[in-house]
Amino acid sequence: MPRCRVDKDEGEKHPGLLKLMQILSFLVVFVAGVVIGLATTSHISRYFTSQNELYSLINHFSVPNTLVEENCSGSDMCKGRECSSFHLFIHPENLTHTMSDDELFWRASMVSKKEDYYPFKRIPKVAFMFLTRGPLPMLPLWERFFSGHEKLFSIYVHALPGYELNVTSSSAFYRRQIPSQYVSWGSVSLADAERRLLANALLDYSNERFVLLSESCIPVYNFQTVYKYLINSAHSFVESYDEPTRYGRGRYSRKMLPDIKLQHWRKGSQWFEISRGLAVYIVADTRYYTLFKNFCKPACYPDEHYIPTYLNMFHGSLNSNRTVTWVDWSMGGPHPAMYEPANVTESFIESIRNNGTECLYNSETTSVCYLFARKFAPSTLETLLNLTSSVMNF
Ligand SMILES: *[C@@H]1O[C@H](CO)[C@@H](O)[C@H](O)[C@H]1NC(C)=O
Ligand SMILES: *[C@@H]1O[C@H](CO)[C@@H](O)[C@H](O)[C@H]1NC(C)=O
Ligand SMILES: *[C@@H]1O[C@H](CO)[C@@H](O)[C@H](O)[C@H]1NC(C)=O
Ligand SMILES: *[C@@H]1O[C@H](CO)[C@@H](O)[C@H](O)[C@H]1NC(C)=O
Ligand SMILES: *[C@@H]1O[C@H](CO)[C@@H](O)[C@H](O)[C@H]1NC(C)=O
Ligand SMILES: *[C@@H]1O[C@H](CO)[C@@H](O)[C@H](O)[C@H]1NC(C)=O
Ligand SMILES: *[C@@H]1O[C@H](CO)[C@@H](O)[C@H](O)[C@H]1NC(C)=O
Repeated sequence: MPRCRVDKDEGEKHPGLLKLMQILSFLVVFVAGVVIGLATTSHISRYFTSQNELYSLINHFSVPNTLVEENCSGSDMCKGRECSSFHLFIHPENLTHTMSDDELFWRASMVSKKEDYYPFKRIPKVAFMFLTRGPLPMLPLWERFFSGHEKLFSIYVHALPGYELNVTSSSAFYRRQIPSQYVSWGSVSLADAERRLLANALLDYSNERFVLLSESCIPVYNFQTVYKYLINSAHSFVESYDEPTRYGRGRYSRKMLPDIKLQHWRKGSQWFEISRGLAVYIVADTRYYTLFKNFCKPACYPDEHYIPTYLNMFHGSLNSNRTVTWVDWSMGGPHPAMYEPANVTESFIESIRNNGTECLYNSETTSVCYLFARKFAPSTLETLLNLTSSVMNF
């Protein structure tokens, strides 16, 4: 075969080259051996170093042995760092902390991979989040509403920095203020405060639903009805609609492109109610929130657009797109009607509870559309307290 002969010829033609290649390959093997040898030695010494470090680490940590010997039964008497840390991890009792928003939102956005599994008896709770400037004039009404249902709710209050709620230790609102920051109504700091409330409430792993309320909000049903309605709902209650006027689409900025398009833009009431899953998404979001922070400034109000738009973009199917907080815009103007004692009658509260209107709940129609209502002047408190047993059933 011509081809074989050519190969053979080449080998025979260059005997000197063959010799050189042999020497070269010996050299390569030798150098490789030396390199491997050196590498192994240094690896071994490194290994011994880390072993030494490991021993010193073990010694270091076994010094405070007393920690293990402390009495860890019962969280109340716990003083050691290790004591009941799991209990405190899932139900933080002290709402005071020194985390920055960045740190808090990062921690609150953590989700267990063990879906719907909890290594403890979990009774789902509703987190009632009060966003207020200062006093809560409806506090006695809310205390009556909450009374007797202590295991089923948690309260969070965001007031202006420096303001301290003055309540006795028997109040449901006792020690329920979260670390707050200054809020300028209409600016992004309002959306920050909402996210801060959500994040603090997320730290309690039993909280399953999250309602945002103001100082002028009242409940129009009793606790059992509100709890059942929210806990069993397949959807969240965030009002979200497209408004093709200057008060809706007119507030959109093209600077939000390409992430947020005009077709994504939604408007809705600030007073939301959301599930734990959506709360985590909102606290975890940085990208879209930053666009609102930079490009939604008066006459664009982040509290009316950020959550409705964000949910519409990614989690629309989990939203009912309606709010459970009733409000009266019929008077016109930039603010909804504020009710005075003269307006608050049995038939008026009845009409908020059921006005012949129907809405969708878990894909079926119901006459129960609103659980809360606003805005009620502080002076209406006594009138309302007089109505709770006859109209609201609490
Ligand atoms: C630990 O606490 C329990 C309950 O308070 C108590 O009965 C027990 O005596 C304590 N044990 C020690 C070693 O202090
Ligand atoms: C809550 O924690 C803060 C800071 O960690 C501490 O100063 C305060 O005493 C604690 N309050 C209670 C009631 O434990
Ligand atoms: C808190 O309320 C109590 C009783 O209502 C009152 O005596 C006390 O002065 C109040 N404290 C503050 C700091 O307002
Ligand atoms: C709410 O709107 C979203 C679109 O953002 C839609 O997918 C969803 O079906 C609506 N929810 C209901 C209950 O109609
Ligand atoms: C409340 O009552 C007053 C006095 O009767 C009336 O002038 C006002 O229009 C009422 N407000 C609303 C929102 O109905
Ligand atoms: C109830 O419905 C009537 C007629 O639709 C309306 O005029 C009235 O303002 C409604 N009241 C409330 C409290 O929604
Ligand atoms: C509330 O009820 C009490 C007792 O029935 C009555 O004395 C008081 O005047 C009522 N207050 C209002 C504002 O209706």
